[in-house]
Order: sequence, then structure tokens, then C-alpha cells
Amino acid sequence: MHIDLADSNILVTGASRGIGKEIVRQLHASGATVALHYGRSKAEAETIATELGSRVHLVQGDLEHVDESIAVWERGLAALGRIDVIINNAGTSIHSAIDTDTRVWARDWQRTTNVNLLACGILSKLFVEHTVAAHAAGTPTGGRLINIASRAAFRGDTEDYIAYAASKGGVVAMTRSIARAFGKRGVKAFTIAPGWVMTDMAKQFMDEGGAETVLSELALPTLTEPTDVAPMIVLLASGLADHATGCTIDINAASYVH
Ligand SMILES: NC(=O)c1ccc[n+]([C@@H]2O[C@H](COP(=O)([O-])OP(=O)(O)OC[C@H]3O[C@@H](n4cnc5c(N)ncnc54)[C@H](OP(=O)(O)O)[C@@H]3O)[C@@H](O)[C@H]2O)c1
Repeated sequence: MHIDLADSNILVTGASRGIGKEIVRQLHASGATVALHYGRSKAEAETIATELGSRVHLVQGDLEHVDESIAVWERGLAALGRIDVIINNAGTSIHSAIDTDTRVWARDWQRTTNVNLLACGILSKLFVEHTVAAHAAGTPTGGRLINIASRAAFRGDTEDYIAYAASKGGVVAMTRSIARAFGKRGVKAFTIAPGWVMTDMAKQFMDEGGAETVLSELALPTLTEPTDVAPMIVLLASGLADHATGCTIDINAASYVH
């Protein structure tokens, strides 16, 4: 199988670190032109852009806020001209114990859902509008929406990360809705649901001695790396799997099979 993304313009959120960074690398290696979004990690984003050279545009924006989320879309579109594929990968996980002061707990909930669900929803909506308009005008685009959820959406999470699990459950329901509603108007929508992946997000848990627990849950002998997740995104972005629209793909080394 040969994957050539030379005609694809792709916006990837949260690509300064972790899974998103590897997604950008692999999409770029397949020929795509990418808009690499980052929030606070400007230096990291610039380092990747330098490493990749051409066909990379940097797009900044804090996805905790509605106006900035809209601006991320506008900046990405201005840089790329047309967006064939969007990968909503940016995410946050905030430790918030159930006995935390309720107002603080609610603020953690709000920040989590703003980034993981609302920003993902805003960018998905703008992408759908862009794709449907191009389809109606007879100039169809790639029309592939790929949202990164989590195993937590299905298995649930620990008591300290209830908002995280809830936000990812929302991402799954939203993505499925879009796949069902807009397929005949050019949109394909996919969800990726990873288990633990070795990034900064997983580091705190691992540092607290969780690495052995995580490994013991897996059916495979090694922990999951960003390089184990990114190839599936390249495949979905290529259009070779369009009839899987609406699906959720688990990448959790059989730690949760449902
Ligand atoms: N790692 C795991 O075990 C795991 C498991 C299941 C699902 N996931 C999901 O996979 C995705 C990537 O996770 P990761 O492990 O690669 O995380 P990570 O290493 O912590 O990186 C998170 C990325 O999201 C961006 N981001 C976070 N908050 C942001 C905000 N308010 N505004 C703009 N950008 C923001 C960060 O950008 P800056 O640093 O530039 O601000 C960074 O590029 C997330 O959706 C996560 O929920 C991860």
C-alpha cells in the first residue's frame, strides 16, 4: 500500500508535543502540507517546524477559550488556503479529586471540557461547514475529521479524572453524529481512542510508579508510544479507509476490549 498525501492540507491541534508531534511528523513524511497548532509550547513547535523544513505552518491559540478556538481555525485556513483533513488532538487532563472544593472542582471541569470537548466541537463545526460548502460548490475537499478521544470514554477513568472521561465521551458522541449527518455532503469522521501513551500527559502517573501497573494491563510486552498511534491517523487521512466513517479505533494494546 502506498500512501501519498501530497495534495492534502492538514491542520493538527496540540502538535507541539506528544502524540500530535508524531502525527505531524508522519503526515509530513507522507507528503502532506501541515498547519501545526500549539498553545504554550512555542519553542517546541518551532523546533519541529525547523526539523521538517518546508510544508509546515505554525498556528498558535489557547483552546480553553471560544474566540481563540475560532481563531485557530481561521489562522489554519489562512495558512493552508483549504483544509482537507483536521486532527483534533489537543487535550488536557487535570487532576481534580472528588473532595476538592466544589467551585474549584467545577473550574477544573470547565477547563477540561473547554479544551477537550468545546474546542474540539468548535473546530469540528467549522471544518464541517468548510467541507460542506466546498462539496456544494463542486470543488470537494478531503473532508476527513479525526478526533482523538480516549479509552476513558468507554472504560471510565479514576475518581480524580471524571471530567476527563466525560469530555472524551462527548467527543465520541459528537464525532459519530457528524459521521452520520454529513456523509453525503462530503464529511467522513473518525474517532481514535488510545489507552496510555508515553507522553507528558502520562508522565506524572508513570513517575508515581504507574508504569508497571500500565504494562501489566496490556496484552503486548511494551508500553504504547506515539509512533504506535500516528500510522492509523495517516491511513485515515489518506482516504483509503473512508468506509470506516463513524468508527472508533481503539489503540490500547487490548488493555480494554469492548
Ligand atoms: N498520553 C495518553 O496516555 C493519552 C491517552 C488517551 C488519549 N490521549 C489523548 O491524546 C491527545 C494528545 O495527548 P498527549 O498525550 O500527546 O498530550 P501532551 O503530551 O500533554 O500534549 C498535549 C498537547 O495539547 C496541547 N494543548 C493542551 N492544552 C491546550 C490549550 N489549552 N490550548 C492549546 N493547546 C493545548 C499542548 O500544546 P502546548 O504544550 O503548546 O500548550 C500539547 O501540544 C489528547 O487529546 C489526549 O487526551 C492521550
